[in-house]
Amino acid sequence: MKTVVVYYSQYGNSRVAARLIAKQLDAPVHRIEVKKRKGVVTSTFSALFGRRPKIKTIPLQPEDWDLMVIVVPIWSGRPATPLKTFLAETRLAEKKIAAFFSFTSTDIHKRPTRWMKKVLDHFGARLEAVGGYNTGLKQHTVLKQRVWDFLAQLPAEAIPVKSSSGSGKRGKARPRSTTK
Ligand SMILES: Cc1cc2nc3c(=O)[nH]c(=O)nc-3n(C[C@H](O)[C@H](O)[C@H](O)COP(=O)(O)O)c2cc1C
Repeated sequence: MKTVVVYYSQYGNSRVAARLIAKQLDAPVHRIEVKKRKGVVTSTFSALFGRRPKIKTIPLQPEDWDLMVIVVPIWSGRPATPLKTFLAETRLAEKKIAAFFSFTSTDIHKRPTRWMKKVLDHFGARLEAVGGYNTGLKQHTVLKQRVWDFLAQLPAEAIPVKSSSGSGKRGKARPRSTTK
């Protein structure tokens, strides 16, 4: 299974999570970049009014991936608006998507998950897993736990087997899941 990690990050939290996830999955990472960087107020309005900011093109073809892990902050209760542009500009039909949110207060399993399901359903893709990290906690060990919990939800073929011989074979080995 070919996996890619795509993230958007304005202040760096989602980037840290994306890199950690990509390292565990041995997957390439792509960053969504807006053409014009916005401040908090404009970003909030952009989220409230469901705008689609212009983004730079990511060189990603449908044959490059089967599973996409999206790492994105929550803005005004929904995934940050640059993701909306990215999803609209990417061929998603019949693909698998997993979403990892960085947030401070929103319950990611409610509105953000519903939003992702609805949008992905519209484009013919399927949401395989949802996870996230409350960045207000600022604890790397908690981030790691949340990432392990998230990775444990992914299809087994997405997880590389780390053997001492370094064969890189993909298969059944899964990260240890934590319950908290
Ligand atoms: C414009 C804006 C709106 C936000 N709205 C929310 C929100 O509704 N719920 C929430 O939990 N966090 C909210 N946050 C906090 C971010 O989701 C959180 O700080 C996130 O980790 C930022 O990710 P980044 O550092 O990758 O940009 C908001 C942040 C910004 C900048």
